[in-house]
Parts: sequence; structure tokens; C-alpha cells
Amino acid sequence: MTTNATPRLAPGPRGTFLLGNLLDLRRDLIGFLRQVSGEYGDIVRFTVAGFTVHLVTHPDHLRHVLQVNSRNYDKQSHEYRPLKLAFGEGLFTSDGDFWKKQRRLMQPAFHRQRILALGEHIVRDVVERVDAWQPYAQRGESLDVAAEMVALSMNVATKSLFSTGLRGDEEVTTIARNLDTVIGYCLYRTMVPFAPPPRVPTRRNREFTAAMTSLDGIIYRIIGERREHGGDTYDLLSMLLEARDEETGEGMPDKQMRDEIATLLLGGYETTSNQLSWAWYELSRNPDVEARLHEELDRVLGDRLPTVADVPRLEYTNRILEETLRLYPVPWLERRAAATDSIGGYHVKAGSLIYISPYLTHRHPDFWAEPERFDPDRFTPERSADRPRFAYFPFGGGPRLCIGNRLAQLEAQLTLATIAQRYRLRLVPDHPVEAKMQVTTSPRYGLRMTLEPRRPAA
Ligand code: HEM
Repeated sequence: MTTNATPRLAPGPRGTFLLGNLLDLRRDLIGFLRQVSGEYGDIVRFTVAGFTVHLVTHPDHLRHVLQVNSRNYDKQSHEYRPLKLAFGEGLFTSDGDFWKKQRRLMQPAFHRQRILALGEHIVRDVVERVDAWQPYAQRGESLDVAAEMVALSMNVATKSLFSTGLRGDEEVTTIARNLDTVIGYCLYRTMVPFAPPPRVPTRRNREFTAAMTSLDGIIYRIIGERREHGGDTYDLLSMLLEARDEETGEGMPDKQMRDEIATLLLGGYETTSNQLSWAWYELSRNPDVEARLHEELDRVLGDRLPTVADVPRLEYTNRILEETLRLYPVPWLERRAAATDSIGGYHVKAGSLIYISPYLTHRHPDFWAEPERFDPDRFTPERSADRPRFAYFPFGGGPRLCIGNRLAQLEAQLTLATIAQRYRLRLVPDHPVEAKMQVTTSPRYGLRMTLEPRRPAA
């Protein structure tokens, strides 16, 4: 057979000379991806400032990129490179053999039993926070539930990592503020690749440097204290400090430990807080779903607080959370094809960028009927049985599956259950709600909600 036939290229928009579709992406990234996938199908090819991009949305093709041929799809791409300024060679941003070694080292810290041991602390944190809501409920005053979920998740993230290492709530707030600045800066550098390097003292660069200095100060202090005094704590840091390279027997150097901790802080709070915020929003709009949630909580828990032992029985609670992550996932991920490949019969040349959008695939009409409707029963075992693995992948997949996914799911379930036992959350009428899609999907204007007590607080 002849081998020199012209390779079949995926269809897609032509874009403009030199810039390609750069301006469309800058204007409304997800809007543009949604439009072209509707127009051209499961694989769309376009260019962005000279780079070829393939948007891949079909589950079979995602399985190829993320799992079957994942070795060919690395993170040497525009989205991840600026993140290295802040997260160095942490698990999220590193690649190849180095990533593999780190992943192997860190995996035991996320062992199921380890994560379950954190459950009790999670519930205690939630109760403490929710106790402070009482005056609002009594006065019928609204609060920003999105901000509350951020505070809660940050608390859980820092406690699971450092247990008692932090100096009070102010330090938790400082970490959250610094991470916000740092992420905002990295995003800006993704969009403006020729921005002046961080050492040039522009306002933006100075803010970034100050946030990094403050963040690093806290992280290094805690590592130092723990190395010096040890302590048999339940947290992830103690596991990371114990981790030893299989071949050399050496532990992680402080700089690498810092990169991993900053990465886990980042991964551990924004995604989880958004999931919870959107769950409250959907519950307030879907009273029938809310009623079934309350029925399950009353039946399984009655008046007592949830524990990790209850989690397998909180099936409907879990379905609500799964459906929330279907509609409000990480909007898009990126990979780079290291070598030339073929996806779905289309030629993908070496160096092409691959755009992956859980947001689009989670709405793919071949796998999701009425995709915009909030319907937790999509996740019953019967209805999930025939769905391909990558039709739903809120935690990614293949070797780079989210390392924190068990912790995230446990935290979300225990938090939703503990709060919904006590309160019904109602969106303030006319409060504007809009999804802001950046690294994660957050409510752009927060969520002002009022609290209706369900039972006298115990
Ligand atoms: C609802 C909550 C969460 C969601 C939706 C989520 C989502 C994701 C996704 C989609 C990826 C894959 C990224 C890619 O392939 O490019 C990922 C990776 C990662 N996540 Fe999460 N995540 C969540 C919670 C967490 C938590 C709680 C932690 C840490 C405690 C965490 C730490 C990480 C890390 C370190 C990676 C990189 C793993 C690797 O490449 O080996 N995530 N997450």
C-alpha cells in the first residue's frame, strides 16, 4: 500500500493570518470551543498565533490522549509553563521520569486509609464554621456562601496538610490571598506570553513576588519546624517527610517539598470550594432534589453528625455532587503532542497542542440527554453502566488522574451532609449568578444566600 498519501487533517475554522483564532480564544475561550465543536465535530483543528491546536471532545479520543498513549502527551504547553513560576516542579506541572518518581513517592500519602482518617477533622471544621452562621439565620441575613466555602475548603486543605502547623486563622487567610494573587499572575502570563519577566519591577511583578515571598515564608517555616521537632501527626506533610526514594533512599529536598506543598494547597481548595458552592446553588433551584437529599440525611443520620462510615450509604448525596461536577468542572486542560500521532484517524503533528474540555465533553449530546438539566439520577448504577469512561472525567484520567480525588470527594460529601442537616440555603432573589471559567469554574459574583434552619442546632 502507498504510504505517502497526504495525511487527513481534522476540520476546523481558518482564523486570520498570523494570529489564527487567538482573539476568539481571548474573547471567550469556552464560548469559542463550544461553537467550533458544534460546527466541526469531535476533533477540531485550528491555529493560535502559529501553533496548531486540536480540540478533542469525544470520550474514545480522550482515552487515547489521557490513557492509552499518554506518554506522548506532555505538559510542555502554554497553560502549564507559567504555572512553573509558582509551583516549580510540583506534581501538577512536572513531566516525564521526574513526575513519575514524585508521583510514586507521594501516592502513599493519599492512601485510602490515610484519607479516611482525615474525615473526623473535616466534620469538626465544618461544624465550627457553621456554628458561626447562627446569628445570620436568626436575623434572616444573607451571607456569601461561595466565600464561606472557600474559607472552609482552605481550612480543610491546610489542616490536612499541616494539621497544627499554622498560626491561627489569619495565616489561612494569608495563604488563600497569596494563592489568588499567584494564580491570577500565572493566568495573566498565559494570556500575555511576552510580559516582562518577574524580576522587572512592574506593579504586577512586585505583587507576585510579595505573594510568593509570603507563601514561601509560611511553607518553609512549617517544613523547618517539623523537620526539627517531628511529631506524630495525621497530616499529609508528615507522610511527605517520611517518603523515601526507592532507589537512593533519600527524602525530598526542601525546595521540592515546597513545590509539592504549594501544589497541593492550590489543588486542594479552589476546586472543592467551587464544587460545594455550585451544589448549594443547584439545590436552591431544585427543591425536589433537595427534598430527596434531606430524606436521605434524615434516614441515614437522623440527628447525629456524619462520619466516614456513613459515606457509602449517602448515595444520593454523592450523586448530587457528581452531577455538580458534570456541569461545573475544570473548564479545560492542555497537552502537547511530543511526537506525531493519529487521533480518530486524523493526523496530529508533533508539537501540536491538544485542548481537552471536561466542560464540553460533560455536555456531549451523544452521552448526555438534556445536558443542561441538573439531574443527579444520571449517576445511578443503571444509567451509568453504558457510559464510556471518558464521557465523565472531572478528575482527569490515566496516569495523571487527580491525586486528591478521594480527599475531595470525602470532603464534599461530609460538608454537604453536615450543612444540609442543619440548613436549607436559599439564593437571594435577583442575585446575579454567572460561571467564571478560568482554571476552575467559580461563581463570578459569589452566592448571596439566606439560611433556613431545618432543625434546632444540636
Ligand atoms: C473537586 C475537587 C477537585 C477537582 C475537580 C480536581 C480536578 C483535577 C484534574 C482535572 C486534574 C488533572 C489535570 C490534568 O490532567 O492536567 C487534577 C490533578 C491534580 N489534582 Fe486535583 N482536583 C480536585 C481536588 C484536589 C485536591 C483536594 C488535591 C490535593 C489535596 C488535588 C491535587 C491535584 C494534583 C497534585 C494534581 C496533579 C496530579 C498529577 O499530575 O500527578 N486535587 N485535579
